[in-house]
Amino acid sequence: MSAPKKLFIKTYGCQMNVYDSERMAEALGGEGYVETKSPDDADMILLNTCHIREKAAEKVYSELGRFKGLKAEKPDLKIGVAGCVAQAEGQEIMRRQPLVDLVVGPQSYHRLPEMEAKAREGEKVLDTDFPEEDKFEKLKNRPKAKRGPTAFLTVQEGCDKFCAFCVVPYTRGAEVSRPADRILREAQDLVERGVREITLLGQNVNAYHGAGANGDMTLAQLIWELDKVDGLERIRFTTSHPNDMQDDLIEAHGTCAKLMPYLHLPVQAGSDKILKRMNRAHTAESYLRLIERIRAARPDILISGDFIVGFPEETEADFQATLDLVEEVKYGTAYSFKYSTRPGTPAAERPQVDPAEADDRLQRLQSLLTKQQREVQDSMVGRDVTVLFEKAGRFPGQMVGKSDYLHAVHVADCDRAIGDLARVRILSSGANSLAGALID
Ligand code: 5AD
Ligand code: SF4
Repeated sequence: MSAPKKLFIKTYGCQMNVYDSERMAEALGGEGYVETKSPDDADMILLNTCHIREKAAEKVYSELGRFKGLKAEKPDLKIGVAGCVAQAEGQEIMRRQPLVDLVVGPQSYHRLPEMEAKAREGEKVLDTDFPEEDKFEKLKNRPKAKRGPTAFLTVQEGCDKFCAFCVVPYTRGAEVSRPADRILREAQDLVERGVREITLLGQNVNAYHGAGANGDMTLAQLIWELDKVDGLERIRFTTSHPNDMQDDLIEAHGTCAKLMPYLHLPVQAGSDKILKRMNRAHTAESYLRLIERIRAARPDILISGDFIVGFPEETEADFQATLDLVEEVKYGTAYSFKYSTRPGTPAAERPQVDPAEADDRLQRLQSLLTKQQREVQDSMVGRDVTVLFEKAGRFPGQMVGKSDYLHAVHVADCDRAIGDLARVRILSSGANSLAGALID
């Protein structure tokens, strides 16, 4: 038997790309590839790219340029670009960087084995279609490898919201939900392979409306079906849009024990003028009332968010409204970004904010968010939480896991295994994690 071919995948961006990279590795596993951690001994290099912010395409070109020497040494090396930059740039990638053999958009990963075979024969291959079929269904029948205790599971892709700053509706296409039975089968399979916690993924995950046995299902209904899967202990989902936060999902946060008390609910800005220009279709007030309802259902829920500062025509007063909203919500964690122009999106045409001003606002927002994050984390000290252990710690006998609230927790003198759940008393709060002790 010939030695296995080696595949190096570099993943950029969101969790959906992490999930997609795993599926691509499994699909190419069927073609005799094993993964390698270094591009130097690879027979195929795949860059799974992200286009959400900053000069994404330029970064990909410069990364590709670095493989020139490798390709010269090893003419059989195949280089592919996947993900949202592949979708956005398409043919242009091969024109600008001739060492690329293969360009595959996020909706075409199930075609990767055929594409790889063509590339092996020396063809340049490109597929950035939006086919009707379920790519994940086509990617099935992979080896039943053992998995770690946590996994992502894509339930929905694409977005119809068209926020004025965002490329997702263009790169990932229209919103599509996977049928519930396929998701449940995949969840069952993951649990059989050792997974205890599943994070349901979607660009607009709470808009989920996949086909079920009795018509379309909501995300909450899907969660209740997953709740019945024996051995699955924790359910999370991300990312949600405030306007799709339906009553049954809010209620599930209060009643479904497997649904974790953590919600990533981006607001982006606190000024109604800016929210309108962002085409967000909610106001600061409606978002705040929504948070109130969610907290009424689950008082200890940890709220996470995304923010953009320096959106076109944002004034100091608009920015102040964002700070006011943050003060009112009190975020347990958050991601904040300086607005960056995405060609082809409506906001790209509008008058831009002075970059130095935007930098200054980002810094002010981040220092407030960091302070809140720290306060929320510190408030865990003295409390008992459940921890799912994910790996051994740096010190002998130490284990590291995540609390229900997604805080990293270090436990010394811990006789539990990876994948175990245990009650832990939190003793101290460090820079980015908590420390605690097992409660017998
Ligand atoms: N500029 C800055 N941030 C952006 N995001 C999306 N598009 C842009 C952009 N053009 C942020 C949003 C989104 C997160 C995933 O990335 O906050 O919620
Ligand atoms: Fe982009 Fe999210 Fe807005 Fe959709 S809802 S356009 S993915 S920011």
